[in-house]
Amino acid sequence: MGFAHMGFDVLHTVIPFNTARAVHTNLLVVWLLSGFMGAAYYIIPEESEHELVNVNLAYVQLISLAVVGVIAIIGYHFNYWEGRKFLEIPRPLDWLVVVNVLTFLGLILATLFKGKKRTTTALVLSMGLLFAAVLYLPGMIWFDNQTMDSFFRWWVVHLWVEGVWELIMGGILAFLLIKITGVDREVIEKWLYVIVGLTFISGILGTGHHYYFIGAPKYWLMIGGIFSAMEPLAFLGMALFAVAMYRKGEKKHPNKIALSWTLGTAIVSFVGAGLLGLAHTMPQVNLYTHGTLVTAMHGHLAFWGAYGMIVLAIISYTMPNMTGRKLYDSGIGTLAFWLSNIGMIGMTVAFGVAGVAQVYLERIMGLEFGDVQKEIQVHFAILVICATMFTTGIALFIYEFIKYGLPNNEALETK
Ligand code: HEM
Ligand code: HEM
Ligand SMILES: [Fe+2]
Repeated sequence: MGFAHMGFDVLHTVIPFNTARAVHTNLLVVWLLSGFMGAAYYIIPEESEHELVNVNLAYVQLISLAVVGVIAIIGYHFNYWEGRKFLEIPRPLDWLVVVNVLTFLGLILATLFKGKKRTTTALVLSMGLLFAAVLYLPGMIWFDNQTMDSFFRWWVVHLWVEGVWELIMGGILAFLLIKITGVDREVIEKWLYVIVGLTFISGILGTGHHYYFIGAPKYWLMIGGIFSAMEPLAFLGMALFAVAMYRKGEKKHPNKIALSWTLGTAIVSFVGAGLLGLAHTMPQVNLYTHGTLVTAMHGHLAFWGAYGMIVLAIISYTMPNMTGRKLYDSGIGTLAFWLSNIGMIGMTVAFGVAGVAQVYLERIMGLEFGDVQKEIQVHFAILVICATMFTTGIALFIYEFIKYGLPNNEALETK
C-alpha cells in the first residue's frame, strides 16, 4: 500500500488497494485479539491460582479462530465481505466469531471463579474481555440507513479501542508491572482504579468525535469535543503509572527486554493515542482533517503504542518463563525494540506530513482528491524506508521468538 501511494500500484488488478487495506486492518484486529486471549490464558490462571479449566478446548478455540480469520481474508479477495471499515467480516462468519469468543470467555471466567483468588488485575482484564465481546453485538445489527449503521459501528470500533481495550491494556500492564518492578500489588492496583475511572468518564461520551459529520444531531459536536479531549488523561495516567512504578521498584528483574516493551507501551500509547488523538479531535479541526492521512498518522502510532507493544511486552515476559530459556537481555532483542519503534515513529511523521499537505491542498485550496494524491507521493518514499526499518525490527523479534521458543538443554538444566 505504501508503494501504491507512491504511484506504483502494480498489483492493482490482482489485489486492489481497498482489499489490501481491509486485510491490513482486519489482520491487525485479529492478531491483537489473539494476543489478548493468549495473555488472558497466561494471566488468569496465574492470578487466580487455578489451572485453566480445559486446555484442549482452548486449543480448539485458538485453531478455530485462526481458521475463521483465514477464510475471511481469502473471502475479501473474492468480494465476500460487508465493506464496513474495520468490520468487513461477512455476517455468517460473525456468528462463528461469537461462538468462538463465548468459548474463550467461558474458559476464562470458569477458571477465575474456580480459583482461590480474584485479584483486581484479573477482574479488570476479564471485565475488559467480557465487555469487548458484548460490544461486538451492536456492530451486527442491520440498518438500511447509513447514518444509523455508522452510529452503531462506532460502538464497536471506538468503544473498543478507547474504552474496553484500555481495560485489557491496563490489566496486562498492571500484571507486568507487579512482576517486573516488584512494587506492592496494592499500590499498583490503586492506580488501576484511577485509570479505569478516567477511561469510562471520557471514553464513553468521547464516541461523539465520530458523530460530527455523519448526519447525527448537532449536539454531538459539543459532547464529542469536550469528552474526547479528556481521553488522553487515561493514557497519561498509564504512562505516569508505569514510569512511577519503575522508579519506585527495585530494578532487579533480569528481563530487561520485557521491561523496555512495558515502559514503551505506556509512553508510546500516550503519544500516539493521547497526543495525536487530541490533535484532531476538536470539531473545528476535524472538519478539515476527517478521513485524511492525518487519521492514518494517529491510527498507526495509537494502535502500535497501545496494543501492538503491550502484546509484544507480554510475549517477552512470558516466553522465558514458559520455555525456561533465559532470553532476558539479548542484543538482537534490544535492536528489535529500537528498530521497530524508530521505524514506526518515522512512518507516523511521514503520514503526518503527507496528511497536513493533503488537508491544505484538498480541503483549503480545493484541489481534486486524485491531483492531491499525486502531489504527496514523495512522502511515501520516506514512509516505505521507515516501514522497512519497522519490518526489520519485527523480523528480528520473530527470529528471537522462534530461536528461543523451542526448548533445549538450557531449559532442562534450569528446571
Ligand atoms: C489506543 C487508542 C486509540 C486507537 C487504537 C485509535 C485508533 C484510531 C483509528 C484506527 C482511527 C481511524 C478510524 C476510522 O476512520 O475508521 C481513529 C480515528 C480517530 N481517533 Fe483515535 N485511536 C485511539 C485513541 C484516540 C484518542 C484518545 C483520541 C482523542 C483524544 C482519538 C481521536 C480520534 C479521532 C478524532 C478520530 C477521527 C478521525 C477522522 O475524523 O478521520 N483517538 N482512531
Ligand atoms: C510495514 C509497515 C506498514 C505500512 C507500510 C503501512 C501502511 C499503511 C497504509 C498505506 C495504510 C492506508 C492509508 C490510506 O488509507 O491511505 C494503512 C492503514 C492502516 N494501518 Fe498500516 N502500515 C504498516 C504497519 C501497520 C501497523 C504495525 C499497524 C498497527 C499497529 C498499522 C495500522 C493501520 C491502521 C489502523 C490503518 C487504518 C488507518 C485509518 O483508518 O486511517 N499499520 N497502513
Ligand atoms: Fe474514537
